Amino acid sequence: MKKILMTGDRPTGKLHLGHWVGSIKNRVAMQEKYNCFFLIADLHTLTTKPHKKDILEMRSHIHEVVLDWLSCGIDPDVSTLYLQSAIPEIYELNLLFEMLVSLNRLTGLPSLKEMARNAQIPEESLPFGLVGYPVLQTADILLPGAHVVPVGKDNESHVELARDIARRFNQYYGEVFPLPEVLLSDTPTLLGLDGKGKMSKSAGNSLYLSDDSKVVAKKIRGMYTDPNRIHANVPGRVEGNPLFQFHEEFNPLQDEVEHFKERYRAGTIGDVEIKERLIEVVNELLEPIRERRRDFESRKGFVEQVIYSGTLKMREIASHSLRSVRSAMGLQGAWKKISKVARSSS
Ligand code: TRP
Repeated sequence: MKKILMTGDRPTGKLHLGHWVGSIKNRVAMQEKYNCFFLIADLHTLTTKPHKKDILEMRSHIHEVVLDWLSCGIDPDVSTLYLQSAIPEIYELNLLFEMLVSLNRLTGLPSLKEMARNAQIPEESLPFGLVGYPVLQTADILLPGAHVVPVGKDNESHVELARDIARRFNQYYGEVFPLPEVLLSDTPTLLGLDGKGKMSKSAGNSLYLSDDSKVVAKKIRGMYTDPNRIHANVPGRVEGNPLFQFHEEFNPLQDEVEHFKERYRAGTIGDVEIKERLIEVVNELLEPIRERRRDFESRKGFVEQVIYSGTLKMREIASHSLRSVRSAMGLQGAWKKISKVARSSS
């Protein structure tokens, strides 16, 4: 039996190269080794964006994210792709787990402050649901009985929390959940095209997996490099230069990359040559992704079918899982007894 792997993304829009480097690439690779569950965490998005407008916008984001996943090679015949809000058992587990964690533990997590800051929510008006974000994530993780959870560094503490809650649940009620382990990706975060910080949608410095070859060329030609190099014969800086980080990540010929670096440091190569080669490299990476995307786009309703069947499958697993939870907790007993007495005395 393969071990269970689960992870998820909030549907905030189309995915970029940073997502590919940091997670998608690994997920595709891990599909053979693990029984994989990939969640579209739309409920988590509500923790900072609860408005109707946000919820309606999310529909197209869900489609985009799943189309990106599939285009990258996530195989719906092998892995389960499902929608969080369509699984009532997640809401239910969330409540039960809320009893097994202290408020202090949750408010002490640095990720909470980070999320509040990003969403521009002042500390004195944190939504209860945002404080509970990692508990909801724990419900996601424990529902399919995940053994491993690949996430970025920013989510590491959430998987630790899931582990603690699983341990406590098992102590109180008996062995139900495996203790999930975090699987940190070892790739550094990809810089944005502006070289200022990590690639992110909100910073407007992204190269999207769905960008066509013309857009890729235009974005890379306009990419940040060492600003002190007014001429090709000025020695340049390789460190912190996104041009070289991209080459390191995507160029299959690492000898060529080393050579570029030497010549860049020596001031014997122009930015143009390195950029033009990077355009080729990125387009070679994206072309098979684009090809699959064209195929899926031509099959009307395909993305919806994938989410639909994955979610139905997950509901079966979820109902089974909740039955074990309620039975371990003895939670169904009161109602069972009431029903029995009521029926026999009527
Ligand atoms: N918190 C994750 C993020 O930063 C999304 C997520 C929701 C998740 N539920 C999960 C990740 C369960 C791993 C496992 O977007």
